[in-house]
Amino acid sequence: MPLHSTLIESLRWRYATKRFDASKKIDAETWQQLQSSLVLTPSSYGLQPWKFLVITDEAVKSQLPAISWNQLQPKDCSHMVVFAARKTVDEEYINRFIQTVVSTRELPADAMNGYRDILVATTAKMESHLDWNSRQVYIALGQFMMAAALLQVDTCPMEGILPEKYDALLGLTDTEYTTVVACAAGYRHEADQQAAAKKVRFSDNELVVTI
Ligand SMILES: Cc1cc2nc3c(=O)[nH]c(=O)nc-3n(C[C@H](O)[C@H](O)[C@H](O)COP(=O)(O)O)c2cc1C
Repeated sequence: MPLHSTLIESLRWRYATKRFDASKKIDAETWQQLQSSLVLTPSSYGLQPWKFLVITDEAVKSQLPAISWNQLQPKDCSHMVVFAARKTVDEEYINRFIQTVVSTRELPADAMNGYRDILVATTAKMESHLDWNSRQVYIALGQFMMAAALLQVDTCPMEGILPEKYDALLGLTDTEYTTVVACAAGYRHEADQQAAAKKVRFSDNELVVTI
């Protein structure tokens, strides 16, 4: 089977899962791949302004519906991923990032100084680092869902959560990070009727403009 048909079949197979089978868990090897899909997400300048909090503890998961508009996916899924964005990109963070580039690529200590200065100047002019960082976080969400679909793992992206309450529960309040969006991952319940619902999309012609 050509790769592209596997890809599109996987994207058609995936849907926003409404009901997970709580008895089915993502195995360690599969999870490791999904975790890598998060870490390998590209970001503007490579700054990676995020943390991914992965909740598998049943006691913590059972507290989530109450702070997720009573949705049950966070409790019944296998792994609940919370995507948190950095609130700021300050000079200290930029320096740490530059240091990581230098050591990873074994560059001379001052090789990235010009790039560092551009980053400091560019970020100093921005109105909201949190808005910018939140947009980066959504790239991770998309990549995660795509990777999951290719591995036949079900997901439900979730904005129907109370970010402040998630921050409190996960110990993020008063840290550099804050909850933006979440994604439940696991396996669909066989009685989830949403799985059979037809995909609703505007036509290619309407959405894709070739110039
Ligand atoms: C950012 C984002 C937030 C969403 N939040 C929720 C949510 O809180 N609960 C839910 O059941 N579905 C949620 N959805 C699922 C969408 O309703 C769903 O993706 C859309 O209707 C398209 O259907 P499909 O994903 O099954 O193809 C969300 C989707 C996205 C992308």
